[in-house]
Amino acid sequence: MVTFQENSANQIVTKLPDGDKKASWLQTIRAILNPVDTLEETQQRYGDIYTAKFASFPTQVVISNPQAIQELFTADAQLFDSGAGNYVVQPLVGANSLILLDGDRHLQQRKLLMPPFHGERMRAYGHTIGDITEQVTSQWSIGKPFVARSSMQEISLQVILKTVFGLKEGERYQQIKQVLIEMLDTFNTPISAIFLFFQSLQRDLGAWSPWGRFIRRRQQLDELIYQEIRERRQQTENTSEDILSLLLSARDENGQPMTDVELRDELMTMLFAGHETTAIALSWALYWVHYVPEVREKLLQELNSIDIAHADPTAITQLPYLNAVCSETLRITPIGFFSFPRILKAPMQFMGYNLPKGMMISVCIYLAHHRPDIYPEPKKFRPERFLERQFSAYEFMPFGGGNRRCLGMAFALFEMKLVLANILSHYSLELLDKTYLKPVRRGIVFAPPGGVRLMVKEKY
Ligand code: HEM
Repeated sequence: MVTFQENSANQIVTKLPDGDKKASWLQTIRAILNPVDTLEETQQRYGDIYTAKFASFPTQVVISNPQAIQELFTADAQLFDSGAGNYVVQPLVGANSLILLDGDRHLQQRKLLMPPFHGERMRAYGHTIGDITEQVTSQWSIGKPFVARSSMQEISLQVILKTVFGLKEGERYQQIKQVLIEMLDTFNTPISAIFLFFQSLQRDLGAWSPWGRFIRRRQQLDELIYQEIRERRQQTENTSEDILSLLLSARDENGQPMTDVELRDELMTMLFAGHETTAIALSWALYWVHYVPEVREKLLQELNSIDIAHADPTAITQLPYLNAVCSETLRITPIGFFSFPRILKAPMQFMGYNLPKGMMISVCIYLAHHRPDIYPEPKKFRPERFLERQFSAYEFMPFGGGNRRCLGMAFALFEMKLVLANILSHYSLELLDKTYLKPVRRGIVFAPPGGVRLMVKEKY
C-alpha cells in the first residue's frame, strides 16, 4: 500500500522509510553525545534504511545496506550536491573549501589537488614519514605513560606540513603546528562539538568564551597561512611540486589565479582533513593491536620477516597482515561514522522509495561495518577476516565512495602502515586503557576516549 505524508517543503511525497520521530534537536544531541548506542538502537528498530532528522539539516535517509550503498555510489554524480550539506565544517575550512564545493568547481579543484596524494609523489615521502616517526617517538621514555593521540597528531601534522605543504622547519612551521592543535582542541569533547552543529551558539562572547577562543586562534592561523602565501607569491621561480606551489600556478578558465582567500581555504582543508583523521586512525590501531595480544604477536612476526629499518617503504606497505590490521581498524572504528550527505537535486526513485528534491541520503559507515551478515562477530577485532575474503566497496567504505571519495585515501593508508611498522619494530608498549573503548565524538570525527594511554616497556 502506498501512503503519503508531507515533507518540510509541504510537497506530497510517497511514504519515506520509518525513523525516529523525536524533535530534530533531541535527535542531534543524542547522536552527538551517545553516537554508538543511538545508531545501534535506531538500526535495530528501523532496519538498514531509515529516516533521521538532525538540527539545521533537511530530513535524511540513512543507509547501511550494501545494495543501497551501491545504488548511491554508482548513481550519476550530477544528481546530487554534497558541499551544501557540509556547512558544519565551514567555520574551520572556509566557503571555498573542496569539501563545500559542488559541480564543475568541485571536479576541477579535486583534479588539481590530487597529485601530491598519489603515485610516485606520495611514495617519495616514505623516508620522511619514517624520520618524523623516529623523532617524535624518541621523546617517549621507558615507564612513562603517554597519550597515543597526541604523539600521532604530532607525527601526522609534521608529515602533512613537510611533505604535502613543502613547509621548511622554522618559526612559522612551529607556530602553525601549535595554533592548529589548539584550535582543533576547541572541539575535543562531545559537548563542545555541539557548537559546530548549532549555528545560534556560534557567538563571540570574548576571548574566554569557547567560540571566542576558537575565532581568535583561527585568526592567528589565518595570519600565518597568509604570510606563507605572500612569501611564496614573491618567489619568482617556483619549481616545487607541493600543494601550495600547484595552487599558486593554477589558472581558471579566464586565466585568473586563485585569490588569497581561496588558497587559504584549500590549505586549511588539507590541514584539517589530512592530519587529525590519520592521527586518530593510528591511535585506534595502536589500541586494537595491544588490546588483542595475539594480533600484536602475529604482526610482529610479519614485521620481523623483513628489515624494517632498511626496507623500501613500498615493500612495508604491501605486507598482508599489516594491511589487514589497518583495514580491520578502519572497519571496527571508522573515523567518520557517515559519508558526506548526498542532497537530491531533483526527485529520485531510490530503493523503491520516491524521494523528493532536497532530501539527503547519507551512508552510515559505522552501521555498514558492523553488519553481522557481512562481518560475523562484528565487535571482535579480527584482521584475519580481510585475509579470508575480499569486501566490496559497498561493504567496506572507511573513506566513503563515488565522486566524493576521500582524496587522501592512498596517502592515509601509506602513512598509517609506515608509522605503525616503525613504532612496533622499535618499541614494546603496554596498553594502560585495558577496557573496551567506545568511540566518542571529537569535532566531526570519532576518536578513542582519552586518546589511548600507553607506556613504553622496552626499546629495541
Ligand atoms: C584514516 C584517515 C582518513 C579517513 C578515515 C578519511 C575519511 C574520509 C571520508 C569518509 C570522506 C567523505 C567521503 C564521502 O562522502 O564519500 C573523506 C573526504 C575527504 N578527505 Fe579524507 N579521510 C582520511 C584522511 C584524509 C587525508 C590524509 C586527506 C588529505 C588531505 C583527506 C582529505 C579528504 C578530502 C579533501 C575530502 C573531501 C573530498 C571531496 O569532497 O571530494 N582525508 N575522507
